[in-house]
This record gives sequence, structure tokens and C-alpha cells, in this order.
Amino acid sequence: MTLSYRIPVYQPWLCGNEERYVLDCLRSNWISSKGDYIVAFEERFASFIGIRHAISVCNGTVALHVALAALGIGPGDEVIVPTLTYIAPVNAIVYCGATPVFVDSDPQTWQLDPNHVYRRITPRTKAILAVHLYGHPADMGALTTLAREHGLFLIEDCAEAFGAYYDAAHVGTFGDIATFSFYGNKTITTGEGGMVVTNDDMLAERVRRLKGQGLAPYREYWHDIVGYNYRMTNIAAAIGLAQLENAPLFLERKRAIAQHYRSLLKGTSVIMHSEAPNVRHAYWMVTVLAPTAEDRDRIRAELARHGIETRPTFYPVHTMPMYAQRYERHRVAESLGLRGINLPSYPALSADEIEEICTIVAQCAPTDTASCPAHRYTTSPHTP
Ligand SMILES: Cc1ncc(COP(=O)(O)O)c(C=O)c1O
Repeated sequence: MTLSYRIPVYQPWLCGNEERYVLDCLRSNWISSKGDYIVAFEERFASFIGIRHAISVCNGTVALHVALAALGIGPGDEVIVPTLTYIAPVNAIVYCGATPVFVDSDPQTWQLDPNHVYRRITPRTKAILAVHLYGHPADMGALTTLAREHGLFLIEDCAEAFGAYYDAAHVGTFGDIATFSFYGNKTITTGEGGMVVTNDDMLAERVRRLKGQGLAPYREYWHDIVGYNYRMTNIAAAIGLAQLENAPLFLERKRAIAQHYRSLLKGTSVIMHSEAPNVRHAYWMVTVLAPTAEDRDRIRAELARHGIETRPTFYPVHTMPMYAQRYERHRVAESLGLRGINLPSYPALSADEIEEICTIVAQCAPTDTASCPAHRYTTSPHTP
């Protein structure tokens, strides 16, 4: 979202009722965390996902924190999490005093690998935190079975996967509790914002209590637990409601953009993130893998020279200083983290822009990848 690029990697599309709803907040004085837009956004969001409770919060990181806190996760507990992820879910585990236990990624879907999850379950494991990375659902069939058989909580981080389905159900409806982010580069945005969703009435009540300073519902200004101020503003919810009204359009555009990239990059040596047969990929960020880390850096530099912003895939968290005390190797995640590029993916991206990007990528991508075993290793059979 750097403003100096001619084609940014992402930008929000505020093409609906955003301005009208925000003005309504300003003119009516309902600018803080009470108001009709909060109620309407929560209700509409819950019905879009197909879940009983949606509780708004002020960003996706605190959504994770409050979800883990509501489950009672704390010191001595281990939470299994993919190492290939944005940092927020790992930090949220640490905020609770628990220990993140890293697992490697599946080479086809790039999501946490259930076989590795199984191997890392110990008597201290309390939960599995699945992150639906780049808009592709994790293997919820295998993960729900594992969680059930081992008596573990299952948490879904859906920050990047609004509009993604596993079998016919929206992500976020499989675990005990799930979270979303509405940062400016997310499929629907509120500027900064997040949502916690659950079908469990008691968990929903705990989240509401925790996000609102631990306020007791039975007496004014009486707080019976140590809570937080994690509330969303009515202004943010107004933007969110307007965005939600256009969500089908955004998702349709993003799918078309991904198909366009796929058809133009076919036959080059970069590989597009595929879609497993039983899922609907939300294509939050169109992501490709270059044959090597050097190829990745060269392609990104050339795109930047033409004013086109990209992002590297996430560095696996087990390699970051504060989480690297133990020497761990997670080879698939390390390979994906070094070779991946998030290409411009915002819904208003034009066909001409996609063609320009793909021409540059095709010119920079090597033609001979025979000597590159890592590339074959993560080649997907799923999507042609
Ligand atoms: C997977 C994932 N989880 C959590 C977050 C945190 O959300 P926020 O930036 O709204 O705090 C993000 C990114 O923004 C994310 O990509």
C-alpha cells in the first residue's frame, strides 16, 4: 500500500455506501463504539459467514488475543500454529503466556500440514490455531478430526480468507472460535478492524465481556474480570457495512483477476498458488512461486523498477529472532517463504495492468528450471 507505486499491491475499493454511512455517523454524533452500524455490521457479517455470533473488535490481532483469552489459554499451554504465517497469531499466543509450537506447511496448499500437527501434539497441547493463508482454506476435515480425537480447541485465523469455503461452508465455522481482520488491504475493510465469530453462546459472552473492559452485564460500571478496550468504532462499522454490501462483487472480481493471472503465467516457470478440489480459494493475494530465491528477488526488483509493488511471502516465524531460540527446520515453509511473490490483487485492478505485470514476470522468469528441485517439490497437481 505504498503510495509511490504506480500499481500498488493492494488498495481498498470504497465504491459503495461508505461515504454516506460515515457522514451519517458524523452528523448523528455516533462516532464512538456504540451505534446502529456496529449492530448492523455484526448481524450482516454473521449471516454472511453462516454463524451465530459475530463480535466486532478494533483489529485482527486483538481478535486473536481475545479469542485465545476467551478459551482460557494461558501459561503452560502449547498452541500449534503454522510457521508460515503473518506474525499476529503467533504473538497472540505469547500475549496469553502460552507457547507457540510451529509446524510446517503442506507443499500443495501451503497451509499447516495435519501430519506435522499430529506429530507435535503433547500432553500440554491445548489448541490448534489454523491460519487460512492467502485466502486458501486449511485442511479443516483433518484438523477438526485431530482436534476432536485429542480434545483440543480449534481456532481459525480467517484474516486473509474472507469469502473462502471448505466443502460448502465458509471458513470460520469449523473451529470453536475464529477471527477476521479488516485492515485496509483485506477483502473487506474498515480501515482498522476485526471480528471474532463463534457458534458457542458462552464463548461469545466471554469475548464480549473481555473486549469491553470486563464490564459486568448486571451492574453499571462494575467490572468482574480484567478486560481490555478492544472495541470497534461505529464509524469503522459503517465502512464495514458498506463494504459487506459489495462483498460478492469484490470476490467475483478477485476470482476473475486470479484466473487472468493464471492464464497469462501458464507456460512460464513461476507457479501460481493452486486451489484444492474441495475448496473455494478467496484469492486474497494472488501469489506465485519463483524457481529460486534469486529469481524471486530479480522479478520483484524488475516489477518495482516499472512502478509495480509486490510483497514477499511471509518469512517463517521460527526464523525470526524472538522465536528462533530452538533450532528448527520447516523445509516447505522455508522454501515457500523464500520464493513467493504476492502480486497486485486489489479488485479494481484492470486487465491491462495484469497483462503488463505478467509480461514483466514472463521476461524475468528463467526458462530452464531443470536444476531446481525445490520448484518441482511445491508444484501443484490441483489446478491446471
Ligand atoms: C493471517 C493474519 N492474521 C492476523 C492478522 C492481523 O490483523 P490486523 O492487521 O487487523 O491486526 C493479519 C494481517 O493483517 C493476517 O494476515
